Amino acid sequence: MSTKHRLIIDCDTGTDDAVALMLAALHPEIDLIGVTTVFGNAPLYATTTNSLSVLELIGKGHIPVHAGFPRPLVRKAMPSERFFKTDSVQDPHGTYLDIPRSASKPASERAVEYLIETYRNATQPITLMPIGPLTNIAAAVALEPRFAEWVPKLIIMGGGHEVPNISASAEFNIWADAEAAASVFEAGFKDVLMVPLDATHKALVTAKECAAFGALGTPAGMATETVIKRRIGSYESSQKMDVPESAPVHDALCVAALVEPGIITTKRCHVAVETTGTLTLGRTVVDTHHRGGKEPNADVAFDANAPRFIALMMEIFGQR
Ligand code: RIB
Ligand code: CA
Repeated sequence: MSTKHRLIIDCDTGTDDAVALMLAALHPEIDLIGVTTVFGNAPLYATTTNSLSVLELIGKGHIPVHAGFPRPLVRKAMPSERFFKTDSVQDPHGTYLDIPRSASKPASERAVEYLIETYRNATQPITLMPIGPLTNIAAAVALEPRFAEWVPKLIIMGGGHEVPNISASAEFNIWADAEAAASVFEAGFKDVLMVPLDATHKALVTAKECAAFGALGTPAGMATETVIKRRIGSYESSQKMDVPESAPVHDALCVAALVEPGIITTKRCHVAVETTGTLTLGRTVVDTHHRGGKEPNADVAFDANAPRFIALMMEIFGQR
């Protein structure tokens, strides 16, 4: 029996998703068995093509990519387009990534069916890692009530306790489909790790480190430099970090935490998602002081070991 972590990533690729995909696909202790895509950082057609492009670039084009939801589960679109200046310098992603564009098509089976059938037939544990809006996961739960039972571990990049990014109180992935996110946190998944902005903003990548990825000279190292450079430009122009010329690479921290759990520091809490607040739509309400009387439903990351995170990516992206 393989001792590797079997993994499915559900993503909205995206610059930081791209780094997460490369880290997962190239890490020797991870078997990335499939990728599912969702709208988010860009429209679904682009997040799907971007996922295919990233995998092909690093010689992992055999990993299947299944396209999922092009819009939120309940709402017709995200709550507001106000923050999206697609392809401008403020946008940390752009529509298409600045890497060779794949001409491949996604797998014929759609994401939600793929997820349900893969978990129905699984004979070994498979971690599920959503790093975009939670629409596909919520749809799988709605379609197959046993889905939450079948998933042994769910690692979510999303939410923010003290740190928001898309509004005064919310993080993008949760805000983009708050109803879906609320239902996922209520679904009874047995082992949930939530990696919010509080942790990802502790694992910033600087311009100097970014250049060092490029200097590795590998396809993954060079692509990592390209995409993180864009992120740093965007963060410098619209949401400066405490460390000069740096940016978080949120989604990749989830992959790091799968193989090296000690890279983050967590607290067990109850998490719920605000779906009706006019000021707080999409806020993750994290009961850090256990005042709400509900059983904790997640391990929530509040801190991260930035030097180890960078070193891990250098090791993996430097492999030939
Ligand atoms: O808020 C950060 C998250 O939103 C990341 O997953 C990023 O890729 C976007 O999906
Ligand atoms: Ca993402």
